[in-house]
Amino acid sequence: MPIPETFITELVERSDIVDVVSQYVRLSKRSGANLFGLCPFHSEKTPSFSVSPDRQIYHCFGCGKGGGVINFIMEIENLSFPEAVEHLAKRAGLSMPEQSGDAESRRRDRMLRLNRDAARFFRQRLLDPEGEPARAYLARRQIRSKAATDFGLGFAPDSWDSLEKAMRALDYTDYELLDAGLVRRGKSGGFYDTFRNRLMFPVIDVRGNVIGFSGRILGDGEPKYMNSPETLVFNKSRNLFALNLAKKSKSGYIILSEGNIDVVSLHQAGFDSAVASLGTSLTAEQARLLSRYTDQIIIAYDNDNAGLKASQRAIGILEKLDLKVKVLRMSGAKDPDEFIKTKGAEAFRALLEGSENQIDYRLRSVTDKYDLSSDEQKVDFLKEATELVAKLPGAVERQVYAMRVASMAGISSEAVTGEVERRRKRLLSGARRTDQQEQSRPERQLQPADRELRYTDPGSAAAEEGLIRLLYLEPALGKTEGLPEAEEFSSPALGRIYAAIRDKINRGDAVNTASLGEALTLSEMSLLVSILQKPELLSKGEQTLRDYIGRIRDQRELAGRELDLRELASRLRERKGYKG
Ligand code: CTP
Ligand code: MN
Repeated sequence: MPIPETFITELVERSDIVDVVSQYVRLSKRSGANLFGLCPFHSEKTPSFSVSPDRQIYHCFGCGKGGGVINFIMEIENLSFPEAVEHLAKRAGLSMPEQSGDAESRRRDRMLRLNRDAARFFRQRLLDPEGEPARAYLARRQIRSKAATDFGLGFAPDSWDSLEKAMRALDYTDYELLDAGLVRRGKSGGFYDTFRNRLMFPVIDVRGNVIGFSGRILGDGEPKYMNSPETLVFNKSRNLFALNLAKKSKSGYIILSEGNIDVVSLHQAGFDSAVASLGTSLTAEQARLLSRYTDQIIIAYDNDNAGLKASQRAIGILEKLDLKVKVLRMSGAKDPDEFIKTKGAEAFRALLEGSENQIDYRLRSVTDKYDLSSDEQKVDFLKEATELVAKLPGAVERQVYAMRVASMAGISSEAVTGEVERRRKRLLSGARRTDQQEQSRPERQLQPADRELRYTDPGSAAAEEGLIRLLYLEPALGKTEGLPEAEEFSSPALGRIYAAIRDKINRGDAVNTASLGEALTLSEMSLLVSILQKPELLSKGEQTLRDYIGRIRDQRELAGRELDLRELASRLRERKGYKG
């Protein structure tokens, strides 16, 4: 059943597009009224994604996606229109009219409550007498009770059913516990606690929900960690341990480390922006999540081969999102936790301040690959290193690093600088060529981003777009006599948009992205929003309207005549054929 228009209107009023988009994209103010950020729908390095607070719409000049706040949620959360409405309603604290709360969202709510109750249970066990082994372990790892409280650390007792019993007493069923990954099914069909005799780290998302757990063994043994399985609310690759705390940090950067213990230890030492990636290597989703809260990441992975490899991978992923990346070089300790314990917080701070930027880091990685005492390897090193330096945008930067490369290889800095500039020219001319190729296709700008919606008659389409823009911005013009029918449009997509707008006007409804959201597909909505980006003179609305209508009809006639002519020509050819 359709969601009432009045509800949609209220929802959109309560869901400011800047607030909503900001949860996914870091927006910054530039000149003019719009905010800009990196488009979440395609990969880019310079921001071409704009949000208009006045008009409550978004639009990407790169990929062409656009729409209102509901469309944004549909697109980014991959939801249908009613699902997106529900998502926003929850956010705005509005209850859905009639069919409130479907089965899935009820299941989700129950699971989050269960996780929270389980976290409380584990927490209490840590404080009880039976929590002594875990408290002893914390003491051994020098984790003080303040940090244990901040992180909500707990203890899963050495028992097969203590959690199960406690949660059953709170009216959760075994199936709900199973669903949340808190119990497992034994061979005989019974259930037993997943986490036993472990130090418990609740995983809390940025909204403050307990979504899962990590349990560390007390001391040595395998497996060292056990994690909640993937559930309705827990997806490891989309969350980061401690981001709920780190997002509040004022430090201006986020420290990305490997281990839960490292994170706790870092926070305890005053580095309140540390997070860890839940035992997986950094994913693109996690990087996107990070980019909502900071523009600078300092990687502090373990000081071993695996950590080094993981850093390289992470740099690649983070750079794609235009994040500034630095890499910490620790020596004399295997991880941040050990470093802080043996050398102290001040030494770690010095490390942070001196942390290499990624150019240093990459250059060092290139250096490490080659044996520079061999002439042959030196040549390969120079090739790779000059390539790296040539890509740096600043001339001074290039000069500085060229000199460093020269001194590493023991050759003159002129030779390296010369090579760097030659490579740079080659890079630039390559880039310019693709630019020119793009621009030599003038029709490109006029065509919708979605290939399916391509215009066959760009001349008429421009007027059709104009008519749509006018009616959208000035719905009163929809009462003008002699408006064309949608069927007269040369572009079926534009015809559909036009029909939807006219339908709203005829019903006396508001014309905006929210009211049109249900009638249009996401690509039609994107097309509409891109049309709205083009300037329109409203002062002479009616006159302009007449011009557009005139052009649509002229083009149509022309196209019709062309068809006639073509038919005539082919008939003539046929007749000739008969004669000859
Ligand atoms: N991890 C995991 N499963 C394992 C081992 C590790 O999920 N069997 C994850 C955990 O999230 C852990 C992270 O990978 O925090 C890093 O592993 P490790 O360095 O071994 O753990 P630390 O938390 O650093 O613990 P410790 O300092 O005690 O070694
Ligand atoms: Mn570790």
